[in-house]
Amino acid sequence: MTQQIVKSDQLSEQQFEYIKLIAEIMEIRKRGEKPLAFIRTYGCQQNVADSEKIKGMLEKAGFGFVDAPDDADFILFNTCAVREHAEDRVFGNVGALKNIKRRHPQILIALCGCMMEQEHVANRIYKSFPFVGLVFGTHSLHHFPELMYNSLVNGKRIFERGNDDKMIYEGFPVHRDGNFKGWLPIMYGCNNFCTYCIVPYVRGRERSREKDVILKEAREMIRSGYKDITLLGQNVNSYGKTLEQPISFAELIGEIDQTDGDYWLRFMTSHPKDCSKELIDTIAHSKHISKHLHLPFQSGSDRVLKAMNRHYDRKKYLETVAYAKEKIDGLSLTSDIIVGFPGETYEDFKETLSLIREVEFTSLFTFIFSPRKGTPAESMADPIPPEEKSKWFQELLDTQEEIAAKRCSSMVGKTEKVLIESVKEKTGELNARTSGNIIVELPGDSELIGTFQNVKITSARNWILKGEIDNGG
Ligand code: SAH
Ligand code: SF4
Ligand code: F3S
Repeated sequence: MTQQIVKSDQLSEQQFEYIKLIAEIMEIRKRGEKPLAFIRTYGCQQNVADSEKIKGMLEKAGFGFVDAPDDADFILFNTCAVREHAEDRVFGNVGALKNIKRRHPQILIALCGCMMEQEHVANRIYKSFPFVGLVFGTHSLHHFPELMYNSLVNGKRIFERGNDDKMIYEGFPVHRDGNFKGWLPIMYGCNNFCTYCIVPYVRGRERSREKDVILKEAREMIRSGYKDITLLGQNVNSYGKTLEQPISFAELIGEIDQTDGDYWLRFMTSHPKDCSKELIDTIAHSKHISKHLHLPFQSGSDRVLKAMNRHYDRKKYLETVAYAKEKIDGLSLTSDIIVGFPGETYEDFKETLSLIREVEFTSLFTFIFSPRKGTPAESMADPIPPEEKSKWFQELLDTQEEIAAKRCSSMVGKTEKVLIESVKEKTGELNARTSGNIIVELPGDSELIGTFQNVKITSARNWILKGEIDNGG
C-alpha cells in the first residue's frame, strides 16, 4: 500500500471563536443559568475518546453534563456502525427523543460518529427523524463548534459527512470521563479492510499522531494521577508507518514506559498479522505495560481467515501466542471472535473451538456475523440459518466459560496487584481489575477507588475472582 501523506493541524482559532459564540447564545437563552448537555456514547473506546473531545469543547462553551436527556439543552448520541444490533439500538433510542423535542422545542438534538458517515443512514435519519437538527460524521469533529453554532443560530437542519480525511487535528480541549482510568488515541482510521468490517469506510485511512504529542499527553496524564492508560488505535501495531520519521509501536510504548510513576499502560487493538516480537519483548521488559494482550483472531479456520482478508493463518497466530506466553510471565490473553461468517461450516467453527482450548484465553468478545452495507462480506453467500449460528455461538460461550473458570481457579491463593475501580451498588463490594484485565471483587472502603492494592485471591466464580486486601501486614 502506498505511503499516506498525513498533515497535522491545530484546532483552528476560528473554532475557538465559535465556542465563545455558543457560550454567548446559551448565556442569553438560559438567562445566565448553566446550559446542560446529555452525551450518550455507543461503540468502542475510539468513540469514547471522541466524545471526550466533544465534551471538552462543550465545557469550554460553558456547558455542564447531565445523566438524563430530559434535563438537557443539547442532546448528542455518538453512534457505532459495527453491527446491525448497535445501529438498531441507536435508531430505537433516537425515536424516543421525539417526545422530549415536543416538550422542549428549544432543545438541539444531534447525532454523530461512525453511523453518520454512511449515506444510507444519514438519509434515513433525514427522512424519519425530523426533530434531529444536527448530524455529523467522524471526519467533522474538528469543526463541531462551527456546526453547532450554525444549528443554533439559523435553526436549519445541518447534515455533514466528511470525505476520507487524511488530516490529524491536535489541540482539542478534552473532558475525560474518569480521573484515574483514561484513553489516549495514538492513531485514527484503518487500512486493513477485513471483508466484514465497516470501520475503514467510516473512519477513513490509517494515520498516526506525532510521537511527541502522544508522549506529552501521556506524561500529563501520569502526572495528574491517571493509573490506567489505554493507547488506542484500530491496529496499534502499524503505528508510525505514515509519519515522516517512521517509528514502531514498540518504540513508542517503550518510551512512554520510561516515564516515572505508579501506573499501568494498556493498548487496543493489536492485529495478529503484525504483532511483532519486538513488541512482545518490550512488554516483557517493561515496568508499566500490563501483562495483557488483546489479540483478536476472529476465526480458527484458515479458509475463513482468508475470506476475512486477515493476512495471517492459524499457525502464525499460534506461534505469536507461544512466543508471547514464553516471554511474558503471567500473560493474560483476550480476543474477538466472529461466529457464522458467510460460508463458515461447522467444521470451520470447530477449528475456532479447538483454538480457544489450545490458547486458554482469559475472556472473549464474541459476535455473530452481521452483514454491513458496502463491505465485501455483505454479498457473500451465507447459507447457514441464524438458528444454527446461535447454536454454535452458545457452544462457543459454554466452552469459554469452562476455560475461564479453570484459568480463574488456578489463581486462587495467589496475591495480585489490582486497581480498585468502583463500588458495586447491590453488594457494596469493591470492583477491581488485575493487570491481566481480570475482574476481582473484594470488601473494602470506597475511598480506595483509584488506588492500587495487593489482593489475595480467595475464590473464583466463573470468570470473576474474589479476594481480600493483603498488603503484606
Ligand atoms: N480493529 C479491531 C476491531 C474493531 S471492531 C481489530 O481488528 O481487532 C471490534 C470487533 O467487532 C472485531 O474484532 C470483530 O470481532 C467484530 N466485528 C467487526 N465487524 C463485524 C461484523 N460485521 N459482524 C460481527 N462482528 C464484527
Ligand atoms: Fe475492522 Fe479489520 Fe480494521 Fe479491525 S483491522 S478495524 S476488524 S478492518
Ligand atoms: Fe463502532 Fe466506530 Fe468503534 S463503528 S466499534 S464506534 S470505530
